[in-house]
Amino acid sequence: MERKRGKKVTIIGAGNVGATVAYSLAMKGICHEVVLRDRNPDISMGKALDMSQAANAARQHTVVTVAHEAEQIKDSDIVVITAGSPRKPGMSRDDLLMINAEITKEVVADVKKYAPESIIIMVSNPLDVMTYVALKESGFPKERVVGMAGILDSARMAHFIFEKLGYGAGQIRASVMGGHGDTMVPLPKFSTVAGVPLSDILSEEEIDEVVERTKHGGAEIVGYLKTGSAYYAPAKSTAIMVEAILKDTKQIFPCGVYLNGHYGYSDVVSGVPVALGANGVEKLFEMTLNDEQKELFAHSVASVKEMIDVLKEKKFFK
Ligand code: NAI
Ligand code: 2OP
Repeated sequence: MERKRGKKVTIIGAGNVGATVAYSLAMKGICHEVVLRDRNPDISMGKALDMSQAANAARQHTVVTVAHEAEQIKDSDIVVITAGSPRKPGMSRDDLLMINAEITKEVVADVKKYAPESIIIMVSNPLDVMTYVALKESGFPKERVVGMAGILDSARMAHFIFEKLGYGAGQIRASVMGGHGDTMVPLPKFSTVAGVPLSDILSEEEIDEVVERTKHGGAEIVGYLKTGSAYYAPAKSTAIMVEAILKDTKQIFPCGVYLNGHYGYSDVVSGVPVALGANGVEKLFEMTLNDEQKELFAHSVASVKEMIDVLKEKKFFK
């Protein structure tokens, strides 16, 4: 009889976000093995050794290794994709879109070949479009390709609410839906502090400020870091998704998923609440939106569709 193997999570792209996801998983002992795969194997080797040693210090059993060859990702339960290229001076949004779509296509081909039963968690930007690319290129069922953004954007909103209030840290449940970008849809009406509606504790003006700051939460951090973007909160948000899937918790999180008639949209990815479990997206929830929320969501979906159309026009999908 074949013995049951431990849980294996591969992270493709061992840069700031990818390495921090690996560290977060190793420090909590979420899985047995974390495999790093990056264009730069030496840096991955250094990080893997360092993290495996940290896991020993933390008395955790997780081992962090490096996949020098694509076939070493074989049997992964989850593949997190953070491989991407940053925007360089003179590069248009469409140029970057094309470059990251090509990188996603390349790494997803390996996932399809060597880890065909895995669940893909997409992180690379533009998130919703890259999740769409991963879904189309892998041919995986839509339940097994899920994008990370909503947990991060909601956490940012929760922190900004805390900054206004000065109390309630850890008890704030903020809600954000839609694409990951300027058109995301923070939902103050669905946000609470220990069950108390936000509108009962913040003024309309304060709520508007929280909403605007949330939409530009990523850019605010880039403004300080200058040479890169946020990675602690993005990595923790990704690790939360990994844990929900591996432990089959069926907890509900906002994630980027393929819409197939949901909320009235098809053939597009956007952020909506879903239950995550062993099968990936186990259930998608359709919330009742008011007219204003519907309009904002429509705008967000349209901006993702526009980018998908650019890829279609350039004959990216065979
Ligand atoms: P980074 O530049 O630190 O890491 C990217 C890594 O990908 C590098 O180590 C690079 O060598 C590697 N890479 C590039 N092409 C590769 C390939 N073909 N195969 C294997 N590895 C490859 O960037 P960072 O900060 O880790 O961000 C990664 C991505 O995640 C970016 O696209 C970023 O915009 C996105 N991001 C998304 C968030 C979200 O909410 N969805 C939040 C934060 C970042
Ligand atoms: C962020 O929101 C860059 O998408 C990344 O920090």
